[in-house]
Amino acid sequence: PMTPAVADRLLPWYDRHRRDLPWRAPPGVTADPYRVWLSEIMLQQTTVPAAAPYFRAFTERWPTVRDLAESPLDDVLVAWAGLGYYARARNLHKCARVVAERHGGRFPDTEEALLELPGIGTYTAAAIASIAFDRVATVVDGNVERVVARLFAVEEPLPNVKPTLRRLAATLTPQRRPGDFAQAMMDLGATVCTPRKPRCMLCPLAEGCAAREAGTQEELPRRAAK
Ligand code: ADE
Repeated sequence: PMTPAVADRLLPWYDRHRRDLPWRAPPGVTADPYRVWLSEIMLQQTTVPAAAPYFRAFTERWPTVRDLAESPLDDVLVAWAGLGYYARARNLHKCARVVAERHGGRFPDTEEALLELPGIGTYTAAAIASIAFDRVATVVDGNVERVVARLFAVEEPLPNVKPTLRRLAATLTPQRRPGDFAQAMMDLGATVCTPRKPRCMLCPLAEGCAAREAGTQEELPRRAAK
């Protein structure tokens, strides 16, 4: 595909079709890093519809990262019940304490500094840096891997192809509105470029999608046989 044109076509699509999710700021407003962080941690283990009520409950009870840091761990674990994987809730609380105590209650604004925080890995650091701070960062989750594999008709199977997909995703990331671009890729993967029966008729990137041209969109990305 013509790589600079991808963002130019995807961002206008996002402006028209962006999902109204509880952690998203209104269009044109940079999101609160605390809310981005909390939502991204929750979304690592659950779907958007399952995470939304937990996100609302957490942000009502603990509106800022300082509030969360000051809360007893047990209260956080109880509120987390149902989301599963309690190590993540413990890390969440630990991270809140580090941000409150060592960063004055404000999340650091670079990928590198975010990576130092408990429970924040490559994906989350890139998501916070781009969505909350408008940093150019490559955010790659399963949705993005699928979109990129199809755009470029990448035939090599997962998981070995992951580094290649990341490099290709980086070539698509624009200097302008990188956070919106990241969320647009996720929305496209969730609603149009779906694992089964992708809705290519509705896709702003259909023209120039190599998999669609080859008719292999439903087969990609491939997965290595176990
Ligand atoms: N899945 C994980 N993070 C997301 C986000 N910021 N927007 C949409 N879907 C997501």
